[in-house]
Amino acid sequence: MNETFLKACRGEKTDYTPVWLMRQAGRYLPQYQRVRSKVDFLTLCKTPELAAEVTIQPVDILKVDVAILFSDILIPVEPMGMKLEFSEAKGPILHDPIRSADAVSGLRNIRAEDDVPFVAEAIKMLVGRLKVPLIGFSGAPFTLATYMIEGGSSRNFINTKKMMYGSPGLFAALMNKITATVISYLQAQKDAGVNAIQIFDSWAGILSPVDFERYALPYVQQIISEFKGKIPVIYFAFNGSAMLGLVGSSGADIVGIDWRIEMKDAVAALGNNAAVQGNLDPCILFGTGELIKERVAQILKSARGAKGHIFNLGHGILPETPVDNAIAMVDAVHELSGRMTQRP
Ligand code: CP3
Repeated sequence: MNETFLKACRGEKTDYTPVWLMRQAGRYLPQYQRVRSKVDFLTLCKTPELAAEVTIQPVDILKVDVAILFSDILIPVEPMGMKLEFSEAKGPILHDPIRSADAVSGLRNIRAEDDVPFVAEAIKMLVGRLKVPLIGFSGAPFTLATYMIEGGSSRNFINTKKMMYGSPGLFAALMNKITATVISYLQAQKDAGVNAIQIFDSWAGILSPVDFERYALPYVQQIISEFKGKIPVIYFAFNGSAMLGLVGSSGADIVGIDWRIEMKDAVAALGNNAAVQGNLDPCILFGTGELIKERVAQILKSARGAKGHIFNLGHGILPETPVDNAIAMVDAVHELSGRMTQRP
């Protein structure tokens, strides 16, 4: 087993900087497209053999140092009682969005081992087959709440903020239910054998720091306190670089960083409490090999003072990305970081 990723998670010295890409299993890979052309996205998530197959694809093709389970943050929302659909044009759709006390009290508390058994099954298949660690993941309560209240993706999140500001008690009740679901969902993944967990807070950045601290952070802290010391926890609040002090107070072992801040400034804002993960703009992968190498080198250098660095993009890889450029990024990280440790 390649331990480099887990060492970096723990803040231990590594021979080179480990690397993976958010959304590394996905449509930019022809091998993924081939599997996906036979089944719809939800069926793919719910069929352990297929989910395991596409999880392994980027490990073989890109030679990344860690795998991430193929699934989606919205998977546990379905057994809570919402009808979930993935539309090619509109992305995820959650029917009958949650906007009333009745709707909130109608949501079920899930038991992940019974309600989404395919997740643990896929993980158990992977643990025997992978030569790198496996990351399990969940959405953060706030990000999941936005999908549940808006009914899908949104531009201004008016319904979410209406509930947050206008009915704070109801919003808290919803967040508590989601938090319980997330804890059960992550616990089931840990029990099945994942080596680390990542909490995706893709929409945290629509909140002011004051609102993030009041309406989103306490629930993330509650989740992380359940797992602290038991398994490495990565927390990624996308668009959160203006409030990294708060993001760091989540208690996460590793904090995901987007490309809107220099790594050295992120490290300074976080203090030495957490390792960092990131932070190449995914669109750099549309540039030349030279540009990719230059930017990888710049990020490796900027992150040198960090407690630990896991190289990644600053957000998910885009479907249009040339596979060769993703490979060039991974190779550049390995080559340049190996060299840097020899000649610091
Ligand atoms: O990283 C990985 O390789 C693991 C798989 C993974 C997926 N979604 C697969 C997926 C992970 C970790 C996610 C997380 C996820 N899902 C997030 C958080 C990360 C982020 O991007 O901010 C969010 C917000 C979602 C919700 C979601 N799922 C959206 C908005 C969409 C539509 C947009 C899109 O990229 O198509 C999805 C669908 C989705 N999730 C796909 C994949 C591979 C595309 C489905 C397809 O094959 O058609």
